[in-house]
Amino acid sequence: MTESNSAKLWGGRFGESTDAFVEAFTASVDFDRRLYRQDIEGSKAHAQMLAHVGVLSEAESQAICQGLDAIQAEIEAGTFRWDVSLEDVHMNIEARLTGRIGDVGKKLHTGRSRNDQVATDIRLWLREQIDDLLSELRRARRSLLDLAEREADTIMPGFTHLQVAMPVTFGHHMLAWHEMLRRDSARLRDARRRVNVLPLGAAALAGTSYPIDRAYTAGLLGFEAVAANSLDAVSDRDFAIEFTAAAALIMTHLSRAAEEMVFWSSAQFDFIELPDRFCTGSSIMPQKKNPDVPELLRGKAGRVNGDLFALLTLMKAQPLAYNKDNQEDKEPLFDAVDTVSASLRAFADMLPAIRVKRERMREAARQGYATATDLADYLVRKGIPFRDAHEIVGKAVRQAIALGRDLAELDLETLRRFSPEIDADVYDMLTLEGSVAARRHYGGTAPQAVRERIREAREELKAEGQGLTGR
Ligand code: ARG
Repeated sequence: MTESNSAKLWGGRFGESTDAFVEAFTASVDFDRRLYRQDIEGSKAHAQMLAHVGVLSEAESQAICQGLDAIQAEIEAGTFRWDVSLEDVHMNIEARLTGRIGDVGKKLHTGRSRNDQVATDIRLWLREQIDDLLSELRRARRSLLDLAEREADTIMPGFTHLQVAMPVTFGHHMLAWHEMLRRDSARLRDARRRVNVLPLGAAALAGTSYPIDRAYTAGLLGFEAVAANSLDAVSDRDFAIEFTAAAALIMTHLSRAAEEMVFWSSAQFDFIELPDRFCTGSSIMPQKKNPDVPELLRGKAGRVNGDLFALLTLMKAQPLAYNKDNQEDKEPLFDAVDTVSASLRAFADMLPAIRVKRERMREAARQGYATATDLADYLVRKGIPFRDAHEIVGKAVRQAIALGRDLAELDLETLRRFSPEIDADVYDMLTLEGSVAARRHYGGTAPQAVRERIREAREELKAEGQGLTGR
């Protein structure tokens, strides 16, 4: 054995030192050092369990735990020397432990492998990230409810095919965004249960011959369950894939909202104004104010889709059990977490600062014949079959377009030419306010229904915040 491999924790069976490029190529410490806190937490729990079952003495376990605490302090103080030749976060910390406390440090890895260790670290880390994302999601949802409340009576055109369809309230539109994020929260809480499972004890792949107590370790680390198969525990990353799929959906929702913000803030729509501090200018066109933040939210959705595909592809052809491929799980997972976290923050910060141009939205709804369906419903209530009513109103709209007027601006005589069933009370139907107010059932767009849903959604948020539902 050459000198250099004698420093490796696994150097025993090697006859020559690792190629310098291969060493860099196979190392992960540059990115997995991010897991140092979870690695130390998992190691301490493992050492305590080993003492609990008598494999280590109490004194040995304590020496290990104190050494690990001291290492954590070094890392956080910035004095820890990360070494690429020690490959990853696990071996960097273990080597330092032995450096600090001597030979007893070498006992930490008893009954354990980096395979179950890294799976444990990622699960601990992701669990914490999910909790942070859940609170960020709650903040975004709260912002949407506040905006919905402020604009519960604000009328805007509702669209299908991006053509004006029927009047809706802006509050209702904000509640649609809110529902998407509410389901995203539920998805994360659900995924968390499958993340929160202990791999330790699986060791390399087959388990260990030491009399370990896995439930004890799980209890120390707050895991809800113990992985039931050692091969599966060290190899599958479905929990990370599932999380990233949920993250991609969050980004999809933010991207859809962002897309609407982009065109709403254009001169052509002019429905909202984004605060200057969320926009940038152009270096050549002095008049420009670009909606950069929403555009980036839309663009970053692509990154997270990419992360999801990276993880799915990473997993698809792996035979049991652990393969080094899995080292590639970290960067996409970290990127997905970082991207979603920053995006949710930007989204939640921006919402309260949006200026809603109520008059402009109202005008757009008025000009788009948005109450035509209400006129048809009116005729149905007078006994005309819906298909015939549809035809009658279609003709009335054509006439209104030819005259350059809104339906509500046609006089009664003109309207009655299309159907003698039309009376003066038709104008209640043709107003935008009348149209939205009529849709007051649960889930409808009426200001009253919007306020009812806001109340209910605030209760849901409160219960979630107190941990009464979900986790
Ligand atoms: N750095 C590795 C990873 O991220 C740790 C596990 C390595 N295990 C092994 N048998 N080489 O997956």
